[in-house]
Amino acid sequence: MDTPHIIRLTGVTKRFGGQAAVSDVDLAFRRGEIHALVGENGAGKSTLCSIIAGAQSADEGELVVDGRTVSFDTPAAALAAGISLIAQEVALVPALTVRENVFLGREPNVAGVLTTKELERRYAQLDARIGFGIPSRARVGSLPFSSQQKVEILRALARESRVIILDEPTAALGPGDAALLFDALEELRADGATIVFISHHLDEVLAISDRVTILRDGRVVRTADTADETHASLIAGMLGRPLTSVFPPKAPAGAGEPILSVRGLTRRGAFEDVSFDLHPGEILGVAGLVGAGRSEVARAIFGADPVDRGEILLRGRRIRARSPRHAKTLGLAMVPESRRNQGLVLALPVDDNLTMATMDRDQVAGIVRTRKVAKAATDMVRRLDIRLKKPGVAVERLSGGNQQKVLFGKWLMTDPKVLIVDEPTRGVDVGAKKSIYELIADLASNGVAVLLISSELEEILGLAHRVVVMNRGRVSAQLEGDDLTERSIMSAAFASEQQHG
Ligand SMILES: Nc1ncnc2c1ncn2[C@@H]1O[C@H](COP(=O)(O)OP(=O)(O)OP(=O)(O)O)[C@@H](O)[C@H]1O
Ligand SMILES: [Mg+2]
Repeated sequence: MDTPHIIRLTGVTKRFGGQAAVSDVDLAFRRGEIHALVGENGAGKSTLCSIIAGAQSADEGELVVDGRTVSFDTPAAALAAGISLIAQEVALVPALTVRENVFLGREPNVAGVLTTKELERRYAQLDARIGFGIPSRARVGSLPFSSQQKVEILRALARESRVIILDEPTAALGPGDAALLFDALEELRADGATIVFISHHLDEVLAISDRVTILRDGRVVRTADTADETHASLIAGMLGRPLTSVFPPKAPAGAGEPILSVRGLTRRGAFEDVSFDLHPGEILGVAGLVGAGRSEVARAIFGADPVDRGEILLRGRRIRARSPRHAKTLGLAMVPESRRNQGLVLALPVDDNLTMATMDRDQVAGIVRTRKVAKAATDMVRRLDIRLKKPGVAVERLSGGNQQKVLFGKWLMTDPKVLIVDEPTRGVDVGAKKSIYELIADLASNGVAVLLISSELEEILGLAHRVVVMNRGRVSAQLEGDDLTERSIMSAAFASEQQHG
């Protein structure tokens, strides 16, 4: 018990179909530390965490908790030992309310069911502590993705665990909410809890963790004090090589007539009076806070949601995409923000997912093209560096970041003229980010018009020729040239309500 470590792993190995996802890992977590795990997509971070949290069991090695060797065979066993995991993908019950999800399985059953009043009181307490401000009675299924992730975080906090593992918790949070989460984590640490924190945002890792472990190909590269690491040293450790600038040089934006124009587009409750132009060969960034209405505008353009007012013009002619399928025939493509809810059939192989969006077209063209399609899929896997341990594997077996690449590839296969990408690098490692950036820049220089929605300012500044900033459903600024700075984007994104009357 006098060890500073609450958890110690020794020689932990986990294989899937003969392939090691985690190899011979020695790793220890201290009480009262924030310990970050970093590594490329597929490095084994999530697998390692799921072993600690009892969701999977190791093939070899030892797991010691509080000085005792344990082998959790269920998440419930790990929970009982005070270990909880916030998984990479949201795992909530959509039909239940926020507070029901938060306290699921935790309602004390001394006197039977927890009264609604008591539930509400506890929720209010929790919410006061972290301050996300999510209405307790909202049905989880009706909330946007980012709020669902916050509900997951609240649930782990409600469990008052001694070890909280967060697998990419900030992937869908805006900077404000991420800051709230970090404050809460620091408080938990001060109370002696151990936080295991996985993130591809190295700035966050450097800012909030005490120690960091780098994984590569399932093995530990090193564990170090975060103060001794830098952005560059982490990247070099993760990739096994240094990486210079991730952003390709900006090609000149395409000139000429806009290919896509949006005029006064309004969807009540989501966005209002949105207007902008997008030119062939141009990358137009859409910046703003999570919840500013950016994804909703994209969905409307793509025919996934109806609009109340305004028009969408394609090469000057009014269109109204009735459905994504229809939008696709018009030459539009959209990479949506959440792979789980939109876009991928997880049980199917990568190839099938990649070719899914081109299917109609190729069926019409006849069977002759099947082979061509298969080849195109193979090319796409290579181009996006999608890491498959063996061909034909179902998408659900891939690491989170590799799933994101499949989603991206699926839409590229349709050869779009206008490509809408919504948080294209969410959950993607630095190396893969670089390939996605190159791909986007490459498409633009080949005349594709790209609408790039991103919460990462760096990404917007590094890629976009012009930027539209959205704030509470409205366009609060359009920036280009020298006006295009981090500061100008932030101030337009945060500008207070009064401006909008
Ligand atoms: N259930 C499974 N069946 C087969 N292979 C799996 C399974 N789960 C994970 N893998 C493989 O194990 C390896 C490690 O995956 P893991 O999800 O742990 O990576 P990760 O570091 O969390 O990556 P990411 O940053 O993309 O989330 C990958 O090659 C993945 O494809
Ligand atoms: Mg993962």
